[in-house]
Amino acid sequence: MKRLIGPQSLLFPNPVLVVGSYDANGKANAITLAWGGIASSSPPSVSIAVRPSRYSYRNIIERQAFTINLPRADQAREADYFGVVSGRDVDKFAAVGLTATRANEVDAPLITEFPYNLECAVTHTLDLGSHTLFIGEVKEVHVDESLIGESGDLHYGSGLLMFDSGIRCYRAPGEVVANAFKVGLEFTDRD
Ligand SMILES: Cc1cc2nc3c(=O)[nH]c(=O)nc-3n(C[C@H](O)[C@H](O)[C@H](O)COP(=O)(O)O)c2cc1C
Repeated sequence: MKRLIGPQSLLFPNPVLVVGSYDANGKANAITLAWGGIASSSPPSVSIAVRPSRYSYRNIIERQAFTINLPRADQAREADYFGVVSGRDVDKFAAVGLTATRANEVDAPLITEFPYNLECAVTHTLDLGSHTLFIGEVKEVHVDESLIGESGDLHYGSGLLMFDSGIRCYRAPGEVVANAFKVGLEFTDRD
């Protein structure tokens, strides 16, 4: 049996995206977002959904740039802090003792201690209602060596923080259960 429920936590799981931006005075800010994802392969693009009431919203509009920084599971405290206070009131980087480093290609700060960082230039802005969708073209990707395996592949699964919007908690990804683009082929005559 299935039940019909209202639109609440629309998709699961969501990576925890911590988005960096500069305000009008050049102060670095960071906002935690669950609504966002991959938008296009070519040009490589991602999407983030930001409420206009957020301090970060104006920063992104004015600089036409943002970074996406993925925290490790053991950085949940810092990531949550970025999502419960506003850069209008405090210097969030100073409060948690993390480092903002200017991105190479876009006008936004990277969170140095987070292991994975995307530099994004805004290409599209779409007002959807409660949230505004920003599409950012990825100009540069920074990855900590701890996320790169022996074969040179990225190992996202090794401890990046996820958000469970159903019961509003953070989770760490678990074991590999199957190989993508492969296990489903068992239902076909392809190898
Ligand atoms: C887990 C989590 C997910 C969130 N997701 C979003 C989101 O997708 N979009 C959004 O506008 N705010 C989201 N927020 C709320 C903002 O992070 C929060 O309002 C923040 O304090 C705004 O910071 P700012 O005013 O410095 O920009 C989320 C907060 C948390 C803790």
